[in-house]
Amino acid sequence: MHYLPQGHRAETRATSDLRPGLRSVAVDQASVEAAPAVLVVAAEPSRLSQRYGARANLYADLEVGHATQNMLLQAVTLGLVAVTVGAVDGAPAARKLGLPHGQTVVYLIPVGFAA
Ligand SMILES: Cc1cc2nc3c(=O)[nH]c(=O)nc-3n(C[C@H](O)[C@H](O)[C@H](O)COP(=O)(O)O)c2cc1C
Repeated sequence: MHYLPQGHRAETRATSDLRPGLRSVAVDQASVEAAPAVLVVAAEPSRLSQRYGARANLYADLEVGHATQNMLLQAVTLGLVAVTVGAVDGAPAARKLGLPHGQTVVYLIPVGFAA
C-alpha cells in the first residue's frame, strides 16, 4: 500500500508478498519477513535540493526520523510492537518495491504483536 497524506488514504500498489524481497536487502533480518506488516519510509532528496541545496539529504533524513517516531508512538498506542530497521540497502529496496526513480528507502518498520 502507498500512503497518500492528502485525504489520509492508502492505495494498493502490489498484491504479492514483498517481505521476503525486503528481507534480502536488509541483511537477512528475520523480522522483516515475519512481521504481519512492514512500514516502509522512503525519501526523495532531489525534491528538497532545489530549496535546501547541499542540506537536502540531511533534511530528508531528519524528516524521516520525525515521521518514523510518530509511527512508533502510534504502534505503542495501538498495543503493537515495532522496530526500526536501518540496516537496509536503500536503492535495491526501492527497486524491489517498484518505487519511482529518485526515491530511496531509509527505514523499514516491521510491526506486529508482542510475543
Ligand atoms: C538508526 C537506527 C537503526 C536501527 N537499525 C536496526 C536494524 O537494522 N535492526 C534492528 O533489529 N534494530 C535496529 N534498530 C533498533 C535498535 O536495535 C533498538 O531496538 C532500538 O533502538 C530500541 O532499543 P531499546 O528498546 O533497547 O531502547 C535501529 C535503531 C536505530 C536508532
